[in-house]
Amino acid sequence: MIICICKRVSDREIRRLVDEGATSLADIRRETELGTQCGKCACETRRMVRELNADQ
Ligand code: FES
Repeated sequence: MIICICKRVSDREIRRLVDEGATSLADIRRETELGTQCGKCACETRRMVRELNADQ
């Protein structure tokens, strides 16, 4: 599922980045440019990253 429509970043990609050590929205943004256009995906991504890190 696409989370960031503007930059075409999927939940799968976010999961992969967390597996590789991403712990924040800033980490995801640095790698993918997610959230750098309209910004609507930021809240959902922040929540996802927090939950995925809590599961690890
Ligand atoms: Fe992510 Fe627009 S949906 S920047």
